[in-house]
Amino acid sequence: MSAPRKLWIKTYGCQMNVYDSERMSSALAAAGYEQGASPEDADLVILNTCHIREKAAEKVYSDLGRLRPLRAAKEAAGGRMQIAVAGCVAQAEGAEILRRQPMVDLVVGPQAYHRLPAMAERAARGDGPQIDTDFPEEDKFDHLPQAPKARRAPAAFLTVQEGCDKFCAFCVVPYTRGAEVSRPAARILSEARELVDRGVVEITLLGQNVNAWHGEGPGGRAWGLGDLVRALAEIEGLARIRYTTSHPNDMDDGLIAAHAEVPKLMPYLHLPVQAGSDRILKAMNRRHTAADYLRLVARIRAARPDIALSGDFIVGFPGETEADFEATLTLVREVGYASAFSFKYSARPGTPAADAASQVPEPVKAERLARLQSLLGEQQAAFQAGCVGREMPVLIEKPGRHAGQMVGRSPWLQAVHLAADAGLLGRIVPVAIEGVGTNSLAGRLVA
Ligand code: SAH
Ligand code: SF4
Ligand code: F3S
Repeated sequence: MSAPRKLWIKTYGCQMNVYDSERMSSALAAAGYEQGASPEDADLVILNTCHIREKAAEKVYSDLGRLRPLRAAKEAAGGRMQIAVAGCVAQAEGAEILRRQPMVDLVVGPQAYHRLPAMAERAARGDGPQIDTDFPEEDKFDHLPQAPKARRAPAAFLTVQEGCDKFCAFCVVPYTRGAEVSRPAARILSEARELVDRGVVEITLLGQNVNAWHGEGPGGRAWGLGDLVRALAEIEGLARIRYTTSHPNDMDDGLIAAHAEVPKLMPYLHLPVQAGSDRILKAMNRRHTAADYLRLVARIRAARPDIALSGDFIVGFPGETEADFEATLTLVREVGYASAFSFKYSARPGTPAADAASQVPEPVKAERLARLQSLLGEQQAAFQAGCVGREMPVLIEKPGRHAGQMVGRSPWLQAVHLAADAGLLGRIVPVAIEGVGTNSLAGRLVA
């Protein structure tokens, strides 16, 4: 019998890529691949890429450059290394990747991962480079097995929706992930039950526009994400439910009510607004105003007063003036975020804003980003400080860096470090918070 082939995957970008990498790895395990320890070691290297900003996309080419000598050394020694580019760069650039880096064997878009083992087989047979950037009709997840039980952590991702029809003027996602598609409720519920059987206690539902999810409940009743959350909450053994990323325009009454009525739904919501100026929001094609967003936040907080909000922001969108930018700061001050991600606008080929004449100069973007991040940093520090002295339920997720230490997760998505026995893995325990870091908390197990 030949030695098992080794696989090495590097994941860039969002949680949906993390989930996809896990499923690709399971599909390849079923085809006889084992996890390799390093790229040098691997017969198949997959780069699961992100196209959202220029830096993310270019990173792939520098990583490919680094793989070149490794592959040459391996071949010189009589071995083999196949190289696959998956994810959003694969979808956006397709054959262009082979032109820039001819040693790539496989280019596979996010909707074609179930075809990856067969593609690798064909390339290995000498059929030449394989490209698949189709958007097939079938649900790829029906053909991608789950990870083996032994590899399961207490918290898992579950993709319920993919793609986006919103076409924000800056964003590549509608092009790389395609049109909005919801997975059927029955499949999601059975996958969730399977995860819980494997020891999962916290599930994060994923989608590029997760709250646009829609489906059918029993008797053909129309379901929104709030209904799906309620159905998931009935699964015994599932203790916590989260979802990400949401669009403000898809936060419907049913979902807001679920935050008030479903205790398993965690009090943390990532709700990107991008900017605080109505003129810029309009140019971004966000289809909501700053006031719409603030009203929505007030309704969500009325439903779940202890909810912590996080957001995404872009500074230096084409045409953004100092006054527009200050409107973003004003909105941030009004909302008060527990955490946030903020970025300089990056022009992406093929998106409407990329060709706008009024691009904001790089130094102006950098200066605005620094001011925004300083305000967001203050808000995060205040939120963190407010946790000290409180007792909260913490899900113990993994061993910490030091012996006798474990790391868990607070209801508000903070990592919590504490002294605890490894036997508590997967349990939710009360912890008294005694100290804070930027994103993490330190605490003591309450007897
Ligand atoms: N589907 C999610 C997330 C999309 S990508 C949503 O709608 O919110 C994650 C974040 O990257 C976005 O929220 C946005 O803030 C940022 N982003 C997207 N395109 C960008 C670009 N061209 N330049 C800078 N940031 C961008
Ligand atoms: Fe991109 Fe906008 Fe769709 Fe989010 S809603 S994925 S930012 S186009
Ligand atoms: Fe990046 Fe694609 Fe996710 S562009 S953020 S990996 S959807």
